Amino acid sequence: MNTSTLLRAERGDITTLAVEAIVNAANSSLLGGGGVDGAIHRAAGPDLLHECRLLGGCKTGEAKLTRGYRLPARFIVHTVGPVWRGGEQGELALLVSCYRRSLELARAAGATSIAFPSISTGIYGYPIEQAAPIAVQTVRAALRDDDPIREVVFCCFSAADLGVYERLLAGMTRQ
Ligand code: APR
Repeated sequence: MNTSTLLRAERGDITTLAVEAIVNAANSSLLGGGGVDGAIHRAAGPDLLHECRLLGGCKTGEAKLTRGYRLPARFIVHTVGPVWRGGEQGELALLVSCYRRSLELARAAGATSIAFPSISTGIYGYPIEQAAPIAVQTVRAALRDDDPIREVVFCCFSAADLGVYERLLAGMTRQ
């Protein structure tokens, strides 16, 4: 049971966070898009796209690492979340995989802090009230005892999303 890693939620633009790795909710091409993907590519600069072009895309549920370029973060973990299709097409397992694989890659790269956006809950339509508990429970379960990752930030773009995560994290401490 990991008790040394701080899990917290905050509202803001993930591209500004001074953490060592930020996670991008990308699409399978890894060549940029809208939402947080667009924000990260704009903030990181054109060299990010050059590196992404060499990665050959990414499967849903999988993740790939690049440098952070002009971002405060040293690394970007690009993961491709599931498109919400009603919940009967394996979306939950794919979302779990996004959080697990992103933590694995960040840890392997030596990151000691990581920030996640709310993967799949924007353009991909995953309902936040179902996705947020998956995010928090998957991250908690994937953290090792005395994990080198010392801080996980759930970066929420809206006040409503922040409220969802804060209630989940508060509930955790009461357990
Ligand atoms: N910082 C943090 N969170 C953000 C930011 C930002 N700068 N911009 C958007 N978000 C939030 C959204 O409000 C949403 O809560 O990130 C969450 C994920 O939404 P999307 O970015 O739409 O990602 P997703 O739903 O996973 O859809 C992925 O969108 O941008 C395209 O190329 C991407 O095709 C892919 C799809």
